[in-house]
Amino acid sequence: MFVNRRSFLSGIVGAAGLSALGSSIRVAPVLASTSPTGLAADPRRPQFHLLPAANWMNDPNAPIFFNDRYHMFYQYNPDGAFWGDMHWGHAVSTDMVHWQHLPVALAPTPGGPDADGCFTGTAAVLDGKVTIFYTGVRSAPEEQATSKDGSHSLLETQCLASAEDSELKVWTKLPAPVIAAPPAGMQVNGFRDPSPWRQGNTWYMTIGTGIANRGGAVLLYKSKDLRNWEYMHVLARRNQNGATTLDAFDPWEVWECPEFFALGDRHVLIYSTAGKGYWQSGRLDSEIMRFHPEQAGILDYGSYYAAKTQLDKSGNRILWGWIPEARPVEEHKAAGWAGLMSLPRVLTLGTDGRLRSRVAAEVNQLRGREQAVAIGAEESGNLRQINALRIEDCCGEIVCTAKRTHEPFEFALESAGGGTQWIRVKYDPLQPGQVTIDARPAPVLLGENDDLELHLYIDSSVIEVFVNQQAAWTKRVYPSGNTPQAMRVQWTGKTANIVSLSAWQMTPISANRLSA
Ligand code: FRU
Repeated sequence: MFVNRRSFLSGIVGAAGLSALGSSIRVAPVLASTSPTGLAADPRRPQFHLLPAANWMNDPNAPIFFNDRYHMFYQYNPDGAFWGDMHWGHAVSTDMVHWQHLPVALAPTPGGPDADGCFTGTAAVLDGKVTIFYTGVRSAPEEQATSKDGSHSLLETQCLASAEDSELKVWTKLPAPVIAAPPAGMQVNGFRDPSPWRQGNTWYMTIGTGIANRGGAVLLYKSKDLRNWEYMHVLARRNQNGATTLDAFDPWEVWECPEFFALGDRHVLIYSTAGKGYWQSGRLDSEIMRFHPEQAGILDYGSYYAAKTQLDKSGNRILWGWIPEARPVEEHKAAGWAGLMSLPRVLTLGTDGRLRSRVAAEVNQLRGREQAVAIGAEESGNLRQINALRIEDCCGEIVCTAKRTHEPFEFALESAGGGTQWIRVKYDPLQPGQVTIDARPAPVLLGENDDLELHLYIDSSVIEVFVNQQAAWTKRVYPSGNTPQAMRVQWTGKTANIVSLSAWQMTPISANRLSA
């Protein structure tokens, strides 16, 4: 690894980033053999999320539905379960749920603009051909560098590669970057993660940056042919209209992985910085390409970063995110794998203009045996049924709807054998505009008569939680031992307030935890 991630990639594991990832529960150090057999036997490897067969992954890259297939590329280190030597891993699917691993799609070219790494990027389709834009990274003299941290100085340029085949396995790179430097006169910290889209006859592209002493920003470019790009202006930046003050200012701040797209009757910007993903929704004045954010929020309050979107085959806007590890580097190095992809989330806008997300219906095909609690008037009968619910092998889904009355309640997941509590979601009528997850607040704005709906996906060492599609919270958990554990629900409060509670055992997407 050639960079100091505190300064160069502050978003990934900077001090602020780590504190934003939430508390994770670690019961015991984890050691696994890194052979395929060892990986397959590691009960912490998720069973229905996409992750490489081994080694490190971070950001989703260029997700695209093309030629009847979903392609997912991702930041991948073929050398081990730690960040560095960025390649593009590749997997393909017919349904966004079951995947087949394909050979690495992009690798650094010695002597080229991406000699030290192929960073994050996005796909565009022109005349039936897929092109990817990505950030090439190489060491450069200080005066040319777009990122420096005292010991390294790196030049980030925006590069292009074209697919030579319909399976997107063979790529030809342009030898020189299409954007070789940040806008003239702009002092930047970070210049990366291009994301193009087409509007009428023009292509536009966002690039993430941080402007010296001003903080994170998104730069907007335009082009007629995908090759020649002209800088337009700053599309969004920290403190614009007061909409981006959700996080504390960090002088190293870079807005990474920005994306801008139409959703409903508005436009949405997403970006990631200091360990968290953010969204803004508002109006685009498309004559002059100025964005006026009206609402802002957090994409996910837990371990979730560098989100990217695509359209699915029906035109839904799908959000993917990188779920990082929340355990020490030495542990994931020893385990032989690190990082996974979130489940696909469908994005919509509420009538209030705020972003909603829910897991794509395609994931429902994995539901196996259902255990549904029949809530009656008798507390003891309800409790007996709740206590009997089991998610075997840490591989399941739970949906629970509860009435909001004047009494608090708490939903928790714990080891069936007793002892460890993995996550707890609490509703307190004194604060009706939020829930707390592991005692930390997440806003949920509900109408007076709306029930609270909790939706949990539990997969080995990850729990993705959704509350009324408004708050998402991804949590890493690391059960100890070499045998997969079972989990149970612990309900505190009146069970008569539960409207429905169902649990499904989920079917693994592969026979061997290698996710293909
Ligand atoms: C986000 C990020 C991107 C960069 C990539 C490098 O996690 O830092 O900005 O392109 O990861 O792996």
